[in-house]
Order: sequence, then C-alpha cells, then structure tokens
Amino acid sequence: MPSVRDVLNTMDYGPAPEAETHVADWLKAHAQGFGHFIGGAFVPSTGGGRFPVDNPARGTRIAEVAAGTPADIDAAVAAARRAQAPWAALSGHERARHLYALARTIQKRERFLAVLETLDNGKPIRESRDIDVPLVARHFYHHAGWAEMLESEFPAYAPVGVCGQIIPWNFPLLMLAWKIAPALAAGNTIVLKPAEFTPLTALAFAEICRETGLPEGVVNIVTGDGETGAALVAHPGVDKIAFTGSTEVGRLIRRATAGSGKKLSLELGGKSPFIVFEDADLDGAVEGVVDAIWFNGGQVCCAGSRLLVQEGIHERFLAKLKRRMAGLVTGEPMDKSVDVGAIVAPVQLRRIRELVAKGEAEGGVLHQAGGKLPETGSFFPPTLITEVEPASTVAEVEIFGPVAVAMTFRTPAEAVQIANHSRYGLAASIWTENVNLALDTAARMKAGVVWINSTNLFDAGAGFGGYRESGFGREGGREGLYEYLVPAWRKAQASASGEARVAPPLVAVPEAGASLGAVPTIDRTAKLYIGGRQARPDSGYGYTVRAPGGAALGQAGLGNRKDIRNAVEAAAGAGGWGGASAHNRAQVLYYIAENLAARAAEFESRLVTFGQEPDAARREVEAALRRTFFYAAQADKYDGRVHATKTRHVTLAMPEPFGAMGILCPDDAPLLGLVSLVMPAIAMGNRVVVVPSESAPLAATDLYQVLDTSDLPGGVVNIVTGPRAELAKTLAEHHDVAALWYFGEPAGLAGVEAASAGNLKPVWSHGGARIDWFSPVEGQGAEYLRNATQVKNIWVPYGE
Ligand code: NAI
Repeated sequence: MPSVRDVLNTMDYGPAPEAETHVADWLKAHAQGFGHFIGGAFVPSTGGGRFPVDNPARGTRIAEVAAGTPADIDAAVAAARRAQAPWAALSGHERARHLYALARTIQKRERFLAVLETLDNGKPIRESRDIDVPLVARHFYHHAGWAEMLESEFPAYAPVGVCGQIIPWNFPLLMLAWKIAPALAAGNTIVLKPAEFTPLTALAFAEICRETGLPEGVVNIVTGDGETGAALVAHPGVDKIAFTGSTEVGRLIRRATAGSGKKLSLELGGKSPFIVFEDADLDGAVEGVVDAIWFNGGQVCCAGSRLLVQEGIHERFLAKLKRRMAGLVTGEPMDKSVDVGAIVAPVQLRRIRELVAKGEAEGGVLHQAGGKLPETGSFFPPTLITEVEPASTVAEVEIFGPVAVAMTFRTPAEAVQIANHSRYGLAASIWTENVNLALDTAARMKAGVVWINSTNLFDAGAGFGGYRESGFGREGGREGLYEYLVPAWRKAQASASGEARVAPPLVAVPEAGASLGAVPTIDRTAKLYIGGRQARPDSGYGYTVRAPGGAALGQAGLGNRKDIRNAVEAAAGAGGWGGASAHNRAQVLYYIAENLAARAAEFESRLVTFGQEPDAARREVEAALRRTFFYAAQADKYDGRVHATKTRHVTLAMPEPFGAMGILCPDDAPLLGLVSLVMPAIAMGNRVVVVPSESAPLAATDLYQVLDTSDLPGGVVNIVTGPRAELAKTLAEHHDVAALWYFGEPAGLAGVEAASAGNLKPVWSHGGARIDWFSPVEGQGAEYLRNATQVKNIWVPYGE
C-alpha cells in the first residue's frame, strides 16, 4: 500500500468510479430496444430496423435503438406540423413555463444524464457532470426567459414553423439543448435526429418532455444515421434545418436544401488557433491548452488545435506544456480522476491515427503523454506535434482528437497571418498580458468566437458560430433566436392561401416610340462600374435595353465571368472601407443621397421610360432618397452588445462586415430595390458587387455619376450589368465573395444556393416572397443590417 507521500509524489491514486446503477437499470428496462419519440409516444421504426449503441470506453453494447426510415421522418414531421400552430398560439409566458419545467427536471436528473452521457459518448464523467449537463440546464432556463420576452423583444417576427435539427456526437445533450431550447422559445416545433453513435441522452430527454407535459408533437426525436438525416433534410414539410457536424455534410445539406426555401443554419468544423505571445502568463496559457485541446479528447469543433507560440518563449512554453501533458491521465471515463476519456468510435480512432501518422511523415515530431491506455475500447493519448509547417496536412485538417500541432511566429502580424491561414473560422484564443495587443489581435481574427486569456467558454447568453467554412448562423442568446424566427410579414404572405401578392402597380406601358419627354438617346452605352471607374465589359458587347412596350432605350454592358472576377478583386481590395469609422461611412451615404437628390429629375425620367407614371417615378426616387438617409442614420447606430455571461468576463458581441458581398437586384422598383440592398450592405462596411435588374439596368448605370461624386472610395460599390442568372452563379461560386443576397428571379435561387456550397457563404433571400420595396417593414430595417453582418463574440476578462 503506497503512503500518502508516495501518492503525492506520483499522483498515482486509485480509481474513483462514479456509480452507474440507476443508468444500468434504465438501460436494462429498455433491453428490448428504444423506439423513436413521435407525437408524444415511443414507437418502433416502421421498417422494424434497429442499430446497436456501444460504450466506446469498454467496447460493449449498451442499447439498441430504432433505425429511422423516411416513413418515420414523415410521421414525425406530420406530428410536428399538427403541433406547431397550437404551440405558437400559446402565450410567451406559457411556453416559458414549459421551458422552465424542462430546465428544472433536467437539473433534478443531472447525475443520471451525466452518467448516461459518459457511458454513451466516452467523455470523462467530470466533464459531463460539471460542464455539459449544467450548461444544458442553463440553456433551457435562459430560453425560458426569451419565450417570456419574445412578444416584446421581437414584435415583428414569427416562428419559422417545423424545424429539422441534426446534431453530432461530441456533445450529444448539449447540442440538443442548443437546438431545441431556442426553437421552442420562438414557437417552433421540432424533429431532431441525434448522432448514430450517441442517441441515448436524447431519448432520456424525450422521457423528460413526456414527464413535464410538453404538448405532444412539439418535440419529436427520430434516431438513425446519415440516411435518416438526409431524409429529414429533404422532407418538404420542414421549414428550417439546423445542423452541427462536419463541413463535408454541411456542404451536402447546403446543396440538398438549395432552392427549397428552407431556412438553414450550419455549425461546422474548425481548426482554431491558440496564440501565445511572449508576454503571456505561461502557466495560465499551459492550462489553457489543456482545456483547448484535451477537453473532451479534442473532439470539439472549436478546439484550440493549432498552437502558435512566439519564438522567444517557444522552448520554455513547450517544455512546460510537455510536463503538464505527461501528467494527464487517459482512461475509463467513469473514473472521476480521469482527464481524458475515450474516442467516440473505432472509426474516429482510425481517422486520428491516420492523420497523426501523416503528420509524422510530413516531418512533424510527436510527443505523447505516457501512461498505460486501457486494453479495451477506443483511446488515444494526449498528443503534441511540433516542427509543423503551417501548410502541412495536420496544420490544416481538423483532426477531431486530442492532438495539438505547434508552430512558431515572430511578430504579432505574423501570428495573425498564420492564424487566419485556414478555410475555417470558428474560434481563436489569444494569450497576452498586453490589453492593446489582445484586443488588436481579436479584431483581426477571422473567427466567430474569440477568447482572450481563456478558451472553450460557452454560455447560453452568448452567440456561437463561425465565419467562412465553419458555417453560418449563431446559436445562443439573442443572435441565436433569429435563426428560429422569420419576419412576420413574410409568414403572413406565405400563409395567404398561396395567393401571389399584388405587386405595387407598374402602370401604363408606353407604346414603342411614344413620346416620353427626356428620353435618353439610343446611342448612350453604359459601361460597367468597377473599382470606382467605368469599365468596358470584357466581352466588348452590350445588350439593348427595352421599354416594356419594346422601344429601345439604350445599351448596357454585357458583363461576364471575367468582369465579375475583376469586380470581386476591386471589392476585396477596398478593405479600408470596413475599417473607416461608422461616422465616415454615414457621411458618404448622406453625400450619395444629396447627389441623388440633385439628379432626381434625371432618375425620374429614366423610370418613366420603363413604364412608370411620372408620379410613381417621383415616389420611387423620393423613396430611394429616404432609404439612403435611413441607412446613413443607421451606420453608426446598428452596433453590438455586451452579453452577461460568466463571472469575471464580459462577452462583446461585435457585428462585423462580411467583406466582399454579392447582391443580385430585383426587377421591380429597379432603383429603389437596388438602393434598399446596397445601402445597408455598405453602411455596415461591406464592399459590394451588384448585378442590377437585367431588364431595367439603366437606373443602376445612371448611379455611376452619383457614386463618382460622393467621396465613395473606389471598389466599395461595383456594378456589373448583364445576364443575371449567369453572373449570379459566378458570384455564388467565387471564394472571395463572403456573403450573397439574392433578390432575382425566384427560379434562379436553387442554382445560386447550390453553387454557394463551395465556400459555404450564407445566401440571404426572401425566397419567393414578393417584397413591397416601398414598405418600411418589408423593404427596410434591421433585418437588412443583421444580414449584412456576422457577429464575433469576444470574451474579455472583466470584473472582480
Ligand atoms: P457527420 O457530419 O457525418 O455527422 C453529424 C450528424 O450528421 C450525425 O447526426 C449524422 O448522422 C448526420 N449526417 C451524416 N450524413 C448526413 C447527411 N447526408 N444528411 C443529413 N445528416 C447527415 O460527422 P461524423 O462523420 O460523425 O464525423 C466526421 C468528422 O466530422 C469528424 O472527424 C470531425 O472532423 C467532424 N465533426 C465535426 C463536428 C462539429 O461539431 N463541428 C461534430 C462531429 C464531427
């Protein structure tokens, strides 16, 4: 028997297993297999199929669950549909009571859920008990609050409807909570598919829904694999898909939902940098690495998997880190003294091994924690790979295991460059005692979450989600709620018994050649507008623009792929606009309005040539002016928030511009439509490539002179006329276009959304809805500004 002194010296103490009898009894009671949870009851799969669920740490079978078929998905969606209107018709307070009851019951079952999670997933009981499950309860409490406040805080919004939610295996119950709580608060109903490796806590949650009296059909859970998930994605009765998982599947889902009108949010992979500057508290940073990459065995989408260490402290820091890594205990996750548990499944273990072998083959040097790994189950020791090049496979690919790769940098600028050298953009962690350096680096990170002197902090009150190929949409807090809401006017329009809404009247089509007053002469050939200059189209051709009656009004440039590429390059190069002060941007917008006013008569007569009555034309120009004023006013007022999250932290939610955006304009209201889209986008600091209405482009080309005389830096607004569908596709495929707004022909949306899957840029449109551009509710507002920005949540140490 070792003495206390021996134990303190070796830190080699005996096992401290968590009791698992309650969960074992529950599993035994379901030995005949778990069904799906549909319409408030547990039902077997229609096909009768089942699949096994294993404990990854022991390699033992612990349950069998139903294999979801398309018919099961049908039944679940039908149940959710039946339940949706009554659920949404409850008062916010009534829904809050249900969410509160779920939170309370989860809290009462905390230990049970933690044990079940660990048996199913293999994560250390210490983590499921102290992190996952408390955050689950917190999420339901927080969203009970949003349900209560929904009517007062989101008065112009309605629930989306039936939501399909697909979640991964790394935080099974927590991801369920992140998806279900906001959806319920906002009045949606749900069909959720847990990951095939880890369905059990979702089924335990289904029992809790029953126990708390959640109305039947509000939450439905269908177990199954990727095929079941694909059936849910494809189901026409689903109004929104929320997905967390691999970028690869995210891309498939983007393509599968293209043109369907389904709302989509994607939370995908990452390869997040963990930057240690030479003035950092090194011991703190070492503990940070432990939490960044060895928490949950590195099976964390926002894991700090790329260590960037400043050259001067590199050796000292790695020596400390290796010492700390050596003390980590990997083993049976039900043991309370274990630091690193099991890898979720043999297939994941193989993937980790292959990638690590590749890292060695590429010249990386491997360091691993010692200690004996259990003989059964899937385990991989905490690992550090040094001597890694930023362009090597292990520095670029998400390993999703307990493996950090380490690189060095010399200057802060170089750190930023290496950190942003990734197709992902989920998170970043910054370690320095210098507040200027910390905040400056945070601002430069292309990432949706930034932790300063901290890492892997989560809270229901803060938004979470990525930039770039880490996906789009946010989960958590106010930002996350928007993912489960749509503007009420759109909902009203959709439910108006399929009736197409009457567009604002486009009056009196003039006859060809009819006298129209100040009609421009036919030889006026508009070029494109790129980088602040009029540019001849690459094709060398123009096309004839005709009035509705057929009369030729002039020529517009026939833009092509090359012109779009040039325009995107100009937009990408005009980054200074995003860094300009909001006041400066507002001034430029006011100046545009002023110049537009000075040329109002010219614009009016242009609209008249397109068949508008002079009064209607005057109204449109006046509305375009007012809209420009509105967004000039908003430029310095649509700003961020400070979320109250953890103690000794504040979380700054900063709306940031996307960068280069593509905008496809509508045909109706050719001037007002364009202005309604371009002004909010540039007010927020984006640079835009605009494709005007194909049939009425001259209102846009008339703007060139206005833009030229308004102090707008070259490249902030670029205008390419021509075949809209073709140009839209080029914009959608372009990797330097970070977001796309599509308000062209509804039929073109499917192609654009599918083409956007390349770099997973968000595509915003109102689907097939007909927008009244004159309406301040439909054609203007915070919804436009919100879609022109992505929120970066920066966690800053603050307070006692
Ligand atoms: P995955 O993306 O295949 O699985 C996530 C969920 O999507 C599961 O519920 C799965 O059944 C479902 N799914 C799979 N194919 C689908 C389809 N075609 N349509 C609809 N749903 C579908 O992730 P997987 O294969 O389990 O893990 C592979 C890699 O993905 C990991 O090594 C890791 O790199 C990454 N990953 C990232 C996660 C994150 O949180 N960002 C979570 C899980 C995995």
